[in-house]
Amino acid sequence: MPAVEHLTDRNAFLLRGDGFAYALAVTPDGDLRHLHWGGPLEPADVAVLLDDDAGDFGSNTWSNPRAHAEELVAHGGRRLDETALKVEFADGVRALDLAVVSSAVGPDGDELTVRLADRHYPFAAELHYRVRGGALERWTTLVNDGDTPVVLDRAYSASWALPWQPHWEATWLAGMYAAETQVTRRALGPGRLVLESRRGIPGHAAQPWLALDAGAGDEAGAVWSVALAWSGSWRLAAELAADGRLHVTTGVNDFDLQHPLAPGASWTTPVTAGVFAPAGHDDLTDRWHAYERRHVVPRSDVVRPVLYNSWEATFFDVRPESQLELARRAAGLGAELFVVDDGWFAGRDDENAGIGDWTPDPTAFPGGLKPLADEVHALGMRFGVWVEPEAVSPDSDLFRAHPDWIYQWPTRPRTLARQTHLLALSRPDVRAHLVEALDALLSSAPVDALKWDLNRPLTEASDGLDEAGSVWIGHVEGFYEVLDRLRALHPDVWIESCASGGGRADLGVLSRTEWVWPSDQTDALERLSIQQGYAYAHSPHTMMAWVTDSPTYLTKREIPLRFRFHSAMTGLLGIGGNLAHWSPADLSAGAEYVAQYKRIRATVQYGTMRRLSGAPDDVTAVGYRSPSGDQVAVFAFAPSVRHLRRTVLLRLRGLDPAAVYVDAATGARSSGALLMHHGLRVGLVGDYASELVILDRT
Ligand code: DGJ
Repeated sequence: MPAVEHLTDRNAFLLRGDGFAYALAVTPDGDLRHLHWGGPLEPADVAVLLDDDAGDFGSNTWSNPRAHAEELVAHGGRRLDETALKVEFADGVRALDLAVVSSAVGPDGDELTVRLADRHYPFAAELHYRVRGGALERWTTLVNDGDTPVVLDRAYSASWALPWQPHWEATWLAGMYAAETQVTRRALGPGRLVLESRRGIPGHAAQPWLALDAGAGDEAGAVWSVALAWSGSWRLAAELAADGRLHVTTGVNDFDLQHPLAPGASWTTPVTAGVFAPAGHDDLTDRWHAYERRHVVPRSDVVRPVLYNSWEATFFDVRPESQLELARRAAGLGAELFVVDDGWFAGRDDENAGIGDWTPDPTAFPGGLKPLADEVHALGMRFGVWVEPEAVSPDSDLFRAHPDWIYQWPTRPRTLARQTHLLALSRPDVRAHLVEALDALLSSAPVDALKWDLNRPLTEASDGLDEAGSVWIGHVEGFYEVLDRLRALHPDVWIESCASGGGRADLGVLSRTEWVWPSDQTDALERLSIQQGYAYAHSPHTMMAWVTDSPTYLTKREIPLRFRFHSAMTGLLGIGGNLAHWSPADLSAGAEYVAQYKRIRATVQYGTMRRLSGAPDDVTAVGYRSPSGDQVAVFAFAPSVRHLRRTVLLRLRGLDPAAVYVDAATGARSSGALLMHHGLRVGLVGDYASELVILDRT
């Protein structure tokens, strides 16, 4: 069965993926009618839907939300609710009147394109649909076929209409710097929930991701979810009509946006992905993880290395001897990748200078990075460095040579943030320079990995000062172009995405990087809720987590090594402490944790994850089942055990009830049924108690 079927008798399309169906049809008037998004349907059902005029189409009920009737709600006429497209023509007209002119199913049968053209102006919108396992990808191409410019005031990727439910609850990932991705759940009332970033990066305040259900639980209930693959300013609005019908629009934020389309030009929006999960929030998370693993994140078939990162150990004081000492100890612990963070390049003694000049500090590294990289390789680890390519320090050779390469208004002060300006990646010459500079860096020494950071927002969006259109769009396209060209030049280099922690962790950047640094917060307790939110939407094989020193850098909290390791072992284990100060006992315990992690990492990174918290609310627990089902790893954390409680019972999910599982540490045997229906008893005593139980299926 092809994923996309054209039901030619009614000119309708049925798109079917893993567990979902999506249906639309071209009406005799040339409108593109929305029919269904949700559980599976058969072709015969589509005919019934077409005959079911719910009062949406061609009727006088003009206050009904149009997204339930039309696939593309474009500003004009009676479309007065949340529209997805608004343009201004050269004569000042700002209304659209679009009709379907053609449609095509892609050669592999998993893609559909429907072209709508304006009835008066030479302007077209192509709606694209692509089935990707349990996800449907959608995006739109806007085409100016005329000989005068058109300005896009709003060009979202798509609207998603959800079937009627008696009430709606929304789940999203909200937060702030050092407290990103907190799971947030609220009932929706009539009106609009708007999640957005206006910062030029996705930001720390929310992820471009939203889930909606009518009261679903972990294991039951339908959930609809939408995400946007865009690493700049974004907007996601869920509009609930008083009659219980909900739709979600998402795309590049139209805040301060005016994107010109020159005669003959076109622009393609970022992809929005929609996931329908019939069986609750566990199913939802499984589907997002599977989508990222199979269709988004590069090298998703390879286990991620254990990382050492120098940031919290040496900050800006990067010298080869101390880095080498850290590297020796990191290798002794079992680390496989050693990354020198900020501070290795010329002029970088503190945050006031140096960004933009990606050459090693000549005093510390007179022979460049190669000698250190060679030593790290000799220790059996790969070697990586930190960069912040989009920023530039005013005190840098790059800025002195090209003061015009930043976003700025000629008559206004420039906003410094973390002592940098933002390079205008909307400009082709700036993009070319960055590719050249980073290529030179990667060619100067055997560098295997980059940590790509950005520590400031886009402030002076100086549109019109170059020819590249809106810089809200041009910057992100420049960022993608530089990343793509660099990856093509150096296909073996792995890249970590970071923006002051989790400021850039969307599907767009995840399609170009191997993993994300989800937060600067390395307090292992704070980290638990950040990681739980991150892994709600993203696969754990993209979630880096470091074990740092105690007391922790940002919170000054003292946490035992065991808890710190266990917390970091629930994602990609990294180590970020100053190993020069670790006691022999801590180094030897650390080596044991790393070895234990390597035994379970394929399960953690690529397995099925279950959030197990819920019983006592001061316990956080998470379980992972390996893809084969042979191994289960369960982590439990209690910051402070109360009420004379010494154990908790964790009811596991997703095991084989008939199988027998053996505790690798104690040899205790339990059936899957017992572990799921009664629970796994885990001892947790004292403060910062944590436990890792590894179960092997016999
Ligand atoms: C912000 C990042 O999130 C940190 O991990 C570190 O790389 C610093 N930048 C370095 O300046």
